[in-house]
Amino acid sequence: MDKIRFGIIGAAGRGSSYVRTLQAHAATEITALCDIRAEEVRQNAVDLGIEHAFTDADEMIDAGVVDAIVVGTPMPFHAPQAIRALESNIHVLSEVTAGVSVEECRDLVKAARRSQGVYMMAENFTYMKSNVLVRELVRRGFFGELYYAEGAYIHELKELNEVTRWRRHWQTGINGCTYPTHSLGPVLTWFEGQRVVAVNAMGTGHHYRDRREDLYEMEDSVTMMCRLSGGGLAQIRVDMLSDRPHHMTHYALQGTDGSYESADGFEAPAKIWLRNRNAEQRWEHLDKLEEFLPEYWRNPPEDALKAGHGGGDYWEVQDFVAAIRREADPAVGIDLAMDMTLPGLISQQSIAQGSTWVAVPDSRNWT
Ligand SMILES: NC(=O)c1ccc[n+]([C@@H]2O[C@H](COP(=O)([O-])OP(=O)(O)OC[C@H]3O[C@@H](n4cnc5c(N)ncnc54)[C@H](O)[C@@H]3O)[C@@H](O)[C@H]2O)c1
Repeated sequence: MDKIRFGIIGAAGRGSSYVRTLQAHAATEITALCDIRAEEVRQNAVDLGIEHAFTDADEMIDAGVVDAIVVGTPMPFHAPQAIRALESNIHVLSEVTAGVSVEECRDLVKAARRSQGVYMMAENFTYMKSNVLVRELVRRGFFGELYYAEGAYIHELKELNEVTRWRRHWQTGINGCTYPTHSLGPVLTWFEGQRVVAVNAMGTGHHYRDRREDLYEMEDSVTMMCRLSGGGLAQIRVDMLSDRPHHMTHYALQGTDGSYESADGFEAPAKIWLRNRNAEQRWEHLDKLEEFLPEYWRNPPEDALKAGHGGGDYWEVQDFVAAIRREADPAVGIDLAMDMTLPGLISQQSIAQGSTWVAVPDSRNWT
């Protein structure tokens, strides 16, 4: 079978982290790199033995040298570049979030429905071992009926805002949970088949200034309460500004028969209580339950262990390639990508209106 020819857009930034996995995969080859940083992208192509280097994404898409692309550019380019590729029936693996406005998300959904190309959003935190294990335990019914979850992305990146300047506008320059997919994504894989129907967002006020002494438009810590279609509640926190040691994520899950709290990044490991393992309500360590991991995580290849974001950067590529080969549906297809992205966009409206509940549209109605 011919190899799937990949092009990577944003190849001098986040896109570069896909190179190793794509070059190691037996079914794929990288034929093109693209980045507006001309010197870097040409040098990267030479160093990696990749034939084509572009500085314009449209030119790469039109050149007929790729079957699939990775969109690793800053957030406002994700939807336009994905739509452009899907219109040429090119498969798209897009970085998070799927889009930066409800309107462009709608256009993206329509393009994905019309295209013969596969669309998948690269929500890598859903592949982290602990998140996968909790999902398996939920699927086996250990938690009973789920009704509450927490997800938090707590990543102090004031300095990164000055290096990757787009973040200063598209992440910390907008008030709301604008970058929610790493926290909401895993939660939605636990509440499988449910989506967020309404959000109510609130923030903690502004306590930090950037290098120019301007206050960040995003409040230091923004939390959105998410009403799920099954009636449950998820609390999603995004904090990119508060001074604190690095930790990055926090998750919790509550059902009628089980409870989970993720590791605290310092001394406390991930803990879980499941009624049918402990009639008494006593915690046990999550890693005691690794026998319930799916096969792929029980014996992971060396490349998965070396890949970034807890192996997520590796597994998402495997799933995307399987979807292109029609062996499986994309793990985060267009509607799930919208379920993970739209609540954050709607949270901007909620917080601007003084923390009112605002309905989240269902992309399944966008035909
Ligand atoms: N999933 C994750 O864990 C994760 C981690 C980091 C970043 N990201 C996402 O990846 C994306 C990129 O983030 P980053 O930190 O690598 O940013 P970055 O600014 O370091 O890299 C982006 C790259 O895209 C290039 N670029 C910008 N506009 C372009 C255009 N129009 N066409 C072609 N190339 C263009 C830039 O020159 C740069 O090399 C963001 O959407 C971010 O949210 C995801």
